[in-house]
Amino acid sequence: MGNKYSSLQIGIHWLVFLLVIVAYCAMEFRGFFPRSDRPLINMIHVSSGIAILVLMVARLLIRLKYPAPPIVPKPKPMMTGLAHLGHLVIYLLFIALPLIGLVMMYNRGNSWMAFGLVMPHAAEGNFDLVDTLKSWHITLANLGYVVIALHAAAALMHHYFWKDNTLLRMMPRKR
Ligand code: HEM
Ligand code: HEM
Repeated sequence: MGNKYSSLQIGIHWLVFLLVIVAYCAMEFRGFFPRSDRPLINMIHVSSGIAILVLMVARLLIRLKYPAPPIVPKPKPMMTGLAHLGHLVIYLLFIALPLIGLVMMYNRGNSWMAFGLVMPHAAEGNFDLVDTLKSWHITLANLGYVVIALHAAAALMHHYFWKDNTLLRMMPRKR
């Protein structure tokens, strides 16, 4: 392990970043499209969401096996603790959010698709459960905006204010 995250970790980090943009944009801008496009937009949303779920679990497992590369100059222990807590929150949030989405879709009891494939669903809808999960999904999605904004701001503070290598460790390697 050098002074950067591995290429795999860097690749997954920025791929998830793009997928998060796709998942949010699909929902935020769905009103701009005709109703006939709704099934496609929903499929884009759920497919990117499921991909995020799989990639977040994969990267968490990779991260548990390989420690993060050191930050130079070394931040205060309190800052390192806060960063670890923040990262844990991001992992949990972006695993729980798509999981809740999946359980919600299953319990709607209607046919739905992801990645062009028909997905399993319950024989009958459980509308009370779906309503509860929907409000959780929306709350966590809104929380996601705050958490990502704080995360990106922290990365920029490291780079421009504290002038350490935190951000460079997560940038693609130069050839
Ligand atoms: C990290 C991934 C995800 C993010 C960031 C995300 C975010 C969002 C956002 C912002 C909304 C709009 C909420 C509103 O109306 O204010 C939404 C709605 C929705 N999401 Fe997700 N979502 C994710 C994953 C998933 C997954 C994996 C599924 C299902 C497999 C899913 C299913 C839904 C559904 C069905 C709605 C519409 C609820 C409704 O208005 O009836 N989402 N999501
Ligand atoms: C403008 C957007 C972003 C920037 C500039 C950015 C930057 C960074 C940087 C510099 C690190 C390394 C931090 C460190 O090791 O202390 C990092 C780690 C991380 N980022 Fe991002 N990030 C962005 C968006 C996202 C998004 C959208 C997600 C997921 C939803 C995400 C999830 C994570 C996670 C989970 C880690 C921790 C990696 C580990 O376990 O060590 N980031 N990010």
